[in-house]
Amino acid sequence: MNARTDEYGGSLDNRVRFAVEVIEGIRKACGPDFIIGARIPGHEWVSDGLTDDECDEIARRYEAAGCDYLDISGGATDVFTKLMETERYEQGDRVSFAARIKKAVSIPVGAVGALREPEFCDKLIKEGTVDFLSLGRTLICDPYWPEKAASGRANEIRPCLSYFDGCTNRLFDSCAISCALNPVAGRELEIGNLQKTDTPKNVVVIGGGAGGMQAAITAARIGHTVTLLEKSDKLGGQFNIACVPPYKEKIAAARDWFAGELARQGVTVKLNWDAGLNVIKSLKPDAVIAATGAVPVTEIPVPGVNNTVQGWDLLNGKVAVPGNSRVTIIGGGIVGCEIAEMLLEKGNSVSIIEMLPEIANGLEMIHKLDLLQDFAEKKVNVKTNSRVTKISQDSVSFIL
Ligand SMILES: Cc1cc2nc3c(=O)[nH]c(=O)nc-3n(C[C@H](O)[C@H](O)[C@H](O)COP(=O)(O)OP(=O)(O)OC[C@H]3O[C@@H](n4cnc5c(N)ncnc54)[C@H](O)[C@@H]3O)c2cc1C
Ligand SMILES: Cc1cc2nc3c(=O)[nH]c(=O)nc-3n(C[C@H](O)[C@H](O)[C@H](O)COP(=O)(O)O)c2cc1C
Ligand code: SF4
Repeated sequence: MNARTDEYGGSLDNRVRFAVEVIEGIRKACGPDFIIGARIPGHEWVSDGLTDDECDEIARRYEAAGCDYLDISGGATDVFTKLMETERYEQGDRVSFAARIKKAVSIPVGAVGALREPEFCDKLIKEGTVDFLSLGRTLICDPYWPEKAASGRANEIRPCLSYFDGCTNRLFDSCAISCALNPVAGRELEIGNLQKTDTPKNVVVIGGGAGGMQAAITAARIGHTVTLLEKSDKLGGQFNIACVPPYKEKIAAARDWFAGELARQGVTVKLNWDAGLNVIKSLKPDAVIAATGAVPVTEIPVPGVNNTVQGWDLLNGKVAVPGNSRVTIIGGGIVGCEIAEMLLEKGNSVSIIEMLPEIANGLEMIHKLDLLQDFAEKKVNVKTNSRVTKISQDSVSFIL
């Protein structure tokens, strides 16, 4: 990206000059006791970008300029999909880059990127692979991670989905961050320090999906007596099917965390309870929270719709996932696209018909680029701006 031809471009000496001058300038202005650290990539994935040897050399130059520590990430802005790990990456995917740079310098070197489990992190430090670890989304999802790790309560850590489903996607839209799992993230001043109530109430929550479980947890945490009613035989609601497509298993871990937290907060959970009016009245609640979720629209006004199966039925196992067949998905929203991934894994040839101008509308950008690349490689036949008009046993008609 640096196309300068003056003393700040061209050779590595020149390209590193600006950062070195900044580090030296900070040292001069702030004195010897001021801690200066730098975040640099250990690997770029850019064909004409920095080589690994250059990354090592830059680390040495930063050390010589006065850096006290280095925090090693990876990627560059022109390889957007490599900027951060999605749920497709293994934990600690980038640690090897930091470990390599640690051998090139004598100051402390840390790793970052999808570090989630205290045990995994502990091992990296104990074995001397790196000197410290940086946590990003891990702490957005559960700011009490360090405290829980230190007190042997790793099982209580709310597990980040790595799906950017609230944090970076909102940042890219110039909004304050939030989190799919942590309702306090981005609203710490507003709801971060809820006080225990002086007037405990009898609260009934209807629905054991993520919304109901979190509402019950919050109400119990501040001192209310909470009963949660779920009409099916298990907690989780849509999380039970959201965890089925490829790479989505972290959602099952999130569901299990919610269930564990309900128990830890003393919520009474009643499964197989369909909360009609009489059931609710019998519990004599002071307050009722309805969190009954949403269900898909199944009645589309298209002739032959009875020849289709519902995506949710594939996900919940009511309908067997076909293999080596030609499958058309009507609706290329996020769920349609995830079902497409599931079908591709079974060797199906997949078409998607979407009436909007784009598929995976609303999906965070890194995922979307990954998904579109995957679909292109696997030759998914995508028709956008297309409306289905008729469905028969072996064909789907649509208009552009
Ligand atoms: C395939 C798929 C993938 C997804 N992937 C993601 C993702 O990656 N990230 C993300 O953030 N979100 C994802 N979502 C969305 C996410 O799963 C939902 O937004 C979330 O689970 C909704 O939670 P909820 O509690 O509002 O509703 P639900 O999960 O629908 O829960 C409602 C619960 O209420 C119960 N209920 C209804 N009526 C009654 C009654 N009368 N009495 C008692 N109980 C009742 C239902 O049985 C259900 O368990 C995905 C969804 C799907 C379908
Ligand atoms: C909301 C958000 C903002 C970030 N901003 C930056 C940034 O400005 N510079 C940077 O080098 N990394 C940034 N990152 C990346 C993180 O520092 C970290 O490298 C990355 O999220 C991987 O770690 P994690 O899996 O623990 O999140 C950001 C991450 C998030 C979630
Ligand atoms: S929004 Fe998703 S990826 Fe971001 S911190 Fe929360 S759980 Fe993790």
